[in-house]
Amino acid sequence: ALAVVRPNDLAGRRIVITAGGTREPLDPVRFIGNRSSGRQGIALAEAARDRGAHVTLLVAHLEVPPPRGVALVEVGTAAELSDAVAEHAAHADIVIMAAAVADYRPVEVADGKLKKEALGDELTVHLVANPDILRSLTSGTLTPHRPDGQVVVGFAAETEADDERFLQIGREKAARKGADLLVVNRVGWQLGFATESNTIVVLDRTGSIVGEAAGDKVSVAHRILDLLV
Ligand code: CTP
Ligand code: CA
Repeated sequence: ALAVVRPNDLAGRRIVITAGGTREPLDPVRFIGNRSSGRQGIALAEAARDRGAHVTLLVAHLEVPPPRGVALVEVGTAAELSDAVAEHAAHADIVIMAAAVADYRPVEVADGKLKKEALGDELTVHLVANPDILRSLTSGTLTPHRPDGQVVVGFAAETEADDERFLQIGREKAARKGADLLVVNRVGWQLGFATESNTIVVLDRTGSIVGEAAGDKVSVAHRILDLLV
């Protein structure tokens, strides 16, 4: 067998990685969620661990088991993830926001199960926007204490099929988010989520392409870490 030797270039670095998809409850038994499996975030955690980092993995719902050798913090909603990022980013050299965060949550969460007998043939659910965790981290409003030189990496999942427009959406998002790097990947009905592989473009905050990768999620993770280092 061929052994892959990884560099120890993240030795002693404290890395916080978010993974999975948040869930916003409607009642005690139902939620609004998304299709993130957590695989890319987990691959990043494994890759960073193998390169010597102290990894804290903040996980919303995962469809695969988390890796060994990392500290695990489990959350449910975007608000819980926000609190966890605020706490852990205060001591992190690197923050990677790979989780799919719910953009909206139900305004009201029922104490008991919603009953269709009482609701009738139609149900309208009123949603309100969640705070943008990444933006509040990079703008300094999430936590007052951030280590000097902290590197922040954001993700963007886009369905745009046209390559030019796909890149343009990524560039605009890179400018808006204020992250040092933005990893843009294509998703769709058959693309990105449950799969073992991924195709990414990495942009800096000005929107310039600094790298690209395609392949299994672990090699894509190592490529992202190469760029970050
Ligand atoms: N993100 C976040 N908090 C939110 C929503 C998103 O921190 N409430 C983070 C994600 O973890 C990701 C990045 O922002 O790292 C981009 O998420 P994305 O959903 O692609 O961007 P949005 O700004 O939410 O725009 P849209 O969903 O409309 O494309
Ligand atoms: Ca979003």
